[in-house]
Amino acid sequence: MTREFTLMPKRVPRLETRYRRIATDIPVPESIPVLERLCRCEPVAMRGQPPIVWDHAEGFQVYDAWGNCWIDWSSGVLITNAGHGRKEIADAIARQAGSNLLTSYCFPSAVRADLVEKLSSLLPDPLKKVFLLTTGSETVECAVKLCRSYGMKAGGRSKHVIVSYDKAFHGRTLGAQQTGGIPALKEWIVNLDPGFVQIPFPDGYRTADTSFELFLRSLRERGIEPQDVAGVILETYQGGSAAFAPPAYMRELRQWCTGHKVLLVCDEVQAAFGRTGTFWGFEHYGIVPDLALFGKGITSSLPLSAVAGRPDVMDLFPAGSMTSTHTGNPVCCAAALASIDLVVRENLAENARRTGAVLHSRLNALAARVPQIGCVAGKGLVAGVACVVPGTTNPDGDLAFDVVRRSMEKGLLMFSPVGLGGGTVKIAPPLVITEEAIAESVDVLEEAIAEALREHAAVAG
Ligand SMILES: Cc1ncc(COP(=O)(O)O)c(C=O)c1O
Repeated sequence: MTREFTLMPKRVPRLETRYRRIATDIPVPESIPVLERLCRCEPVAMRGQPPIVWDHAEGFQVYDAWGNCWIDWSSGVLITNAGHGRKEIADAIARQAGSNLLTSYCFPSAVRADLVEKLSSLLPDPLKKVFLLTTGSETVECAVKLCRSYGMKAGGRSKHVIVSYDKAFHGRTLGAQQTGGIPALKEWIVNLDPGFVQIPFPDGYRTADTSFELFLRSLRERGIEPQDVAGVILETYQGGSAAFAPPAYMRELRQWCTGHKVLLVCDEVQAAFGRTGTFWGFEHYGIVPDLALFGKGITSSLPLSAVAGRPDVMDLFPAGSMTSTHTGNPVCCAAALASIDLVVRENLAENARRTGAVLHSRLNALAARVPQIGCVAGKGLVAGVACVVPGTTNPDGDLAFDVVRRSMEKGLLMFSPVGLGGGTVKIAPPLVITEEAIAESVDVLEEAIAEALREHAAVAG
């Protein structure tokens, strides 16, 4: 369960550096009425967000209206790959809005054609057909539907099982939650579909066995025959930990899927558009999935998502049967085109690789010194710092929460901890961040961890 931040302003040290400025108590006293209005009018489930009221954001920095400025390690929630507030994206949005075509729903538009053509041209074979949607969850629902339809066509109605992974997060709608691997999020479903099964993710940390034999054994233990599987769906890296699977495992999985007429789906909602140091996350594995799902960083701004896939799979349904009201909204398409153009033109995948190498080397050095950091996972500009009880892999959610809060008070912004037991401090800056800003922000993280550990030790006795 996500912990809640206090709305009591706290006196924190004032500071000013090249990239950060803290000039008030935190949370800012003047921001409390806004936070209280949100508490009053939104469900409790919307709480747990760091109490910083954003005013504007530029590049890799976030500003409030009271003179404070943070280095952003959140990218919203892995949205602003091309950077916050990019003029090119804002101009594209304004141009499209100014043309007075704000929506066209079930009628074609040139900007929609431009976007699907652009995505198709950037994607490797056979991912050549693209279906636009609005949210990441919608792409997962669509993938489940395509896998099951393809499976039934290839092997009859028994070929419907969707295999996915423990601890996976694929969104909050019914199919996406059943595909996910977090039991607590599924209690409300009551009558879970037995055609969704989860198996251990070979992260090499909480699951020591990373061999492909683990996949085969896990299916056998659950009584699942390969001919009954329609699709295998995984996050390219697990959002809750930032862990990747080993490339050898993924290559064997690719072969197994092909051999058994099973669709392999990479949920790239977090991993695409340069985030991990390659343009597509699945490039790290040297494989191409049958379906790839995109969202978040596709626009660096407005809501838009996409399913890309093999033409024979994407064309399974007849005309008019895959729709969603905001499919290809012209303003969102314009934003996506501008954002993708920036990621390509400024080679932001390469910047993620280069600055990510500095980030990971600093984090690994930190983990080597601090027994409360069990593992650092991720690639490029995504990292998961696993806070644990020393000597175990048990998550320490209190420590992770404290580190995020203290960092926020020092001008380094992260979203609330994620993953098992809320123990992962997740790092995902906009891909325009510089090495100098990475160095400064890791210094802040180190300070926050040291202070948190000192206080925890003092409380323990
Ligand atoms: C890997 C992954 N898939 C799917 C989703 C769901 O996306 P959305 O919140 O846009 O529905 C998320 C959201 O965090 C995600 O991280």
